[in-house]
Amino acid sequence: MSKIAAAGLALFVLLLPAGLLLKATPVPSGPEYTSDGQMKLPENYRQWIYLSTGFDMSYNPTAMQMDHHMFDNVFVNPEAYGAFRANGTWPDKTMLVLENRMAEGKGSINQRGNFQGTDVMGIEIHVKDEARFPGKWAFFIFDNAKTAKVVPTDMACYSCHTEHAAVDTTFVQFYPTLLPVAKSKGTLSAAYVKESETAQKK
Ligand code: HEC
Repeated sequence: MSKIAAAGLALFVLLLPAGLLLKATPVPSGPEYTSDGQMKLPENYRQWIYLSTGFDMSYNPTAMQMDHHMFDNVFVNPEAYGAFRANGTWPDKTMLVLENRMAEGKGSINQRGNFQGTDVMGIEIHVKDEARFPGKWAFFIFDNAKTAKVVPTDMACYSCHTEHAAVDTTFVQFYPTLLPVAKSKGTLSAAYVKESETAQKK
């Protein structure tokens, strides 16, 4: 073997493990932003973990009945779901997606009840990015766009989620696979525990 070939072979053998290592490192699935600070829509969120569907949920006791029905579907990135199952808390870079869809009643063989329409009516994202946001979490509202500006912190989104959500400003009390985990790990917020005790006495 010529010296050059030997050197080439040695280099190949040396670099092989590095190449394998690079290949084995999974692509990080954390939030991505544009240079002007908007969040990019994680377009594969439909392949994430499904948490729940709300039907006509309303936070206002005197709200008028809408003339249509709505579903909201909630998804979370798989890494964050795994960490929550293990610890009952959300890790940094958690992304929760709420997808709104119109309910439809008439279609195919359906006689009663509702099913979800194919058009997405809006997407809201709740993201935990500790280094980026002073309150650790932020909201983004995507109206049919691939990027969205951050929702200002004086909006009601932040206060309602802080005051009423069961775990770390997220509504785990409505996510049936996660509520038992939070209970067993003891990570429910004090405000939520108090609120649910009062509700039970009524
Ligand atoms: C009065 C209370 C209230 C306000 C105000 C509110 N939310 Fe929520 N939010 C909820 C509830 C309840 C759920 C659970 C929905 C479900 O179970 O389907 C929720 C769930 C969410 C989720 C799913 C992830 C999570 O944190 O649980 C997102 C994203 C979200 N809301 C975004 C927003 C945005 C954006 C705003 C402001 C424009 C907002 N919310 C305002 C009560 C509120």
